[in-house]
Amino acid sequence: MSAVSSVLASRLSDASTTAFGITLDPELRSATKPEFGHYQTNLALRLGNQLSLPPREVAARLVAALKVDDLCETPAIAGPGFVNLTLRSDVLAAAVNDRTAFAPRGERVVVDYSQPNVAKQMHVGHLRSTVIGDAVCNVLRYVGYEVIRQNHVGDWGTQYGMMIEQLLEEDLDPETLDLQGLQALYERSRRHFDSDGDFADLARLRVVALQTGDPATRASWQRMVDVSLADFEQVYARLGSALTRADVVGESAYNDDLPVIVAELEQDGLLTESEGASCAFLPGFVGRDGEPLPVIVRKSDGGFGYSATDLAAIRHRVKTLHAKRIVYVVDHRQALHFDMIFTLAQAAGWLPPTTTAEHVSFGTVLGPDGKPFKTRAGGTVKLTTLLEEAVERADALLADRTGIDRAATAVAVGIGAIKYADLSSDRDNDYVFDLDRMVAMSGNTGPYLQYAHARLTRLLTKAGETSGLVTVLEHPVEQRLALLLTGFDDVVLQVAETLQPHRLCTYLYELAAVLSVFYEQCPVLRGENRSSRIALCAATRQVLQDGLGLLGIAAPDAM
Ligand code: ARG
Repeated sequence: MSAVSSVLASRLSDASTTAFGITLDPELRSATKPEFGHYQTNLALRLGNQLSLPPREVAARLVAALKVDDLCETPAIAGPGFVNLTLRSDVLAAAVNDRTAFAPRGERVVVDYSQPNVAKQMHVGHLRSTVIGDAVCNVLRYVGYEVIRQNHVGDWGTQYGMMIEQLLEEDLDPETLDLQGLQALYERSRRHFDSDGDFADLARLRVVALQTGDPATRASWQRMVDVSLADFEQVYARLGSALTRADVVGESAYNDDLPVIVAELEQDGLLTESEGASCAFLPGFVGRDGEPLPVIVRKSDGGFGYSATDLAAIRHRVKTLHAKRIVYVVDHRQALHFDMIFTLAQAAGWLPPTTTAEHVSFGTVLGPDGKPFKTRAGGTVKLTTLLEEAVERADALLADRTGIDRAATAVAVGIGAIKYADLSSDRDNDYVFDLDRMVAMSGNTGPYLQYAHARLTRLLTKAGETSGLVTVLEHPVEQRLALLLTGFDDVVLQVAETLQPHRLCTYLYELAAVLSVFYEQCPVLRGENRSSRIALCAATRQVLQDGLGLLGIAAPDAM
């Protein structure tokens, strides 16, 4: 709730206490129609129910005890006993004028996101994780958390043993390989591994050499990591992602902790030997066949897998990073994995009740055929190609504009379009990657919101004054716009709680829609109350800019 609406809420519950000796949450909501005022509560209906009194009578007594003269017009009772509240316009104006920042919470959130894999191209799934993760980080920081980004890069495991052994056999200098070369090397080594037992044995020994820190083996591995990270960084730069190399804490970082993980689980009696592997069986986790599902902590060949690394990561994030919340932005297919990992980490005491772990899952990106997005040959679509295509489309869109920095604007619009499309529907849904729809200037799109912002910027430049205050809010549309503006922080808080960025998109889209009605009905530069309306426009521009910024989307001044 905005500051003013939370004050109203507590006044309502005070009134309920005074009149009936019962304290309930008024569940204050925005009014559903302008004629109902600004806010609405069904408190009297709930009280009436509890006290077996007619709700309208309860509403009358509630309103009599309600002290809101300093904030509202006279409260109204409507329908079966709703109480409708309308802010005094000077109060509403003041709420628009003074926006205050959230206070620091003194709490840390670790956000695990992006997580591409070494020696492989980033694909659209990694795009989603990166875009959603950036937005989630921005929102959490805005509401006062201290945010620690962790890019849990897939850089560990048996495949590196295979690849390094293949490299040696072909006498290839790892310095000469780019990401594509690495990917091809991976495929060759895989085939070799599957068809040649002697090679497979060597590859296994090579994994041991890697895990125990043999210098030459580590150097080859490091080269593969460096080549891949450099490539990822190019994608991040193009995307305007906040991720840097300092945020990379890959699977390999937990190597030394893995034996400790096993030892502690063993001590707690949580491990069972099963077909040579060390597994944890958790109550309630069974497969389709009714067989208990294991978390495989150590594989039968002694190697550690994805689960062991994730357990070590949780332990580190709680014990060393002191996280209150750990957030994993990973596609929905890993829901069961995280469910089991969190449960096991709780059982082992690594994840205490004072820290929450949340899987922020997301759906699949689909191609035009409605199937998971792939190239015609069935390979993964290169992310950079997609991003360049979006920028080209945006550039074409801007062809007839003059007086703008076309190249920079095309990047802002093209990349913004992709991000907004990804963020604007419920993240659990799949969506079709459709560039035409994404770059459209109308509808619930990134460019539409960017345009609303640019248009406001142009208007404010024309107006010439920027520092005035909102003083008059007479027109109903003016009031609606103002009221929406005061709800921004509330929406951002909701996103921080639910980690659902689409709620912010929906809000911004509504704001832009109300803004366009405002333009039609309330002339700004030549109308009455010029300076107040200019200030209202400036506040709207600021909220659009902040909102887009939280989504990781640029807001160019002209387009
Ligand atoms: N690298 C994995 C993948 O590409 C995702 C890692 C997710 N994060 C984690 N802590 N498990 O599928």
